[in-house]
Amino acid sequence: MADKITDDIYWIGVDNPDSRDFHGIYTPRGGSYNSYLIRADKPTIIDGTNKPFIDQYLESLSSVIGPEEVQYIVVNHVEPDHTGALSTIMEKCPNAIVLCTAKAKEFLEAEWGIVERVEAVIDGQEYDLGNKKLKFVMDPMVHWPETMMTYLVDDKALFPADLFGAEISHEHIFADEYENFDEITRDYFAIVLRPVAGTVKAAIGKMKDLELSFLCPSHGPVYRKDFDKVIGKFQKLAEKPEEDKVTIVYSTIWHSSEKLANAIAEGVKEEGCEYELFDISKSNLVKMMASAMTSKAIAIGSLTMLGMYHPMLEAYFPFLKLNCQRGKTAAVFGTHGWVPTSVPKLKKKLEEELGYNVVGELDFRFGPKTDGDFARAKELGRKLVSEMRHSSGEQCAIPNKQ
Ligand code: FEO
Repeated sequence: MADKITDDIYWIGVDNPDSRDFHGIYTPRGGSYNSYLIRADKPTIIDGTNKPFIDQYLESLSSVIGPEEVQYIVVNHVEPDHTGALSTIMEKCPNAIVLCTAKAKEFLEAEWGIVERVEAVIDGQEYDLGNKKLKFVMDPMVHWPETMMTYLVDDKALFPADLFGAEISHEHIFADEYENFDEITRDYFAIVLRPVAGTVKAAIGKMKDLELSFLCPSHGPVYRKDFDKVIGKFQKLAEKPEEDKVTIVYSTIWHSSEKLANAIAEGVKEEGCEYELFDISKSNLVKMMASAMTSKAIAIGSLTMLGMYHPMLEAYFPFLKLNCQRGKTAAVFGTHGWVPTSVPKLKKKLEEELGYNVVGELDFRFGPKTDGDFARAKELGRKLVSEMRHSSGEQCAIPNKQ
């Protein structure tokens, strides 16, 4: 059902509390696909929704206004979560024309066959809604090439599409009504926006001078205060997301690599450093990616399987590359029975393909057994933290320029 933001701005989006996956992110608190209705002389919809949710969407829209009254539908971003149901919305709003970028116009035709009633707008262009005015701000590659933000000048409301989003159910309208959801924002950012951090940074620079009363993204809650803090949080995620933290990822079958991972974690903790620990067979790849994004160091371990590290790790490495780990500190560890091959191959992978600075390695035949073995693993954890804290910290600020 629709929610009122002001007398003139309504949330008419779709709540999907049962969703547990979005772009590969595990979403324990569901998701939302936001759409907004501006009640101006010329009523205007900002962003749409995906096909499966059209009935819910039309119910929300119709609870505020007759669809035939809508004059404009602004498409900030063409990804299917926002335009999958656009053809049907246009049918139900026969007097509305779509406003979008020239690239979005091309995408709408290619993706959905929508050709009629679409008008391209340009950067900085203003659009008259009678008693209110829209201004369009182009921000290509946040998250696709056709994206733009829309500013409702009179109400100081910015509709930035995916930027400033979080994949969380529509439990409330405003962000300040939620319990902390920083980790959910982090995971969303890691897969949706960190890979295009350069353009995110540029978009933030472009919108920074706009006066804000509302920040209305296409996912998650609406912000109505603390704008400097919110923008600063996203700017940090784009520019320098790393904290004093170690991500530890391992693959195990007979628990030897797991025991080593736990001992390394103990060493990290003894140095007063945070860590996140993941068994790759039980963990979400995007969450592990988001952890690595916000960590200054990583430790990766594996058993040896027919001369290689566990193949599941091969699925993780491209995620690391997408977030750029170049210059970060790393350690590798593992076990073998016949020949010691997984750890050297892990080291080579991390150094040569991912650009890590590998500062330590440990490999035990048939796993660690003695107190001395576990002490060496703890020592590796301590060394990793020490090296991390002494590293130059020269990392890829902008992943898409690596
Ligand atoms: Fe919410 Fe990039 O779509």
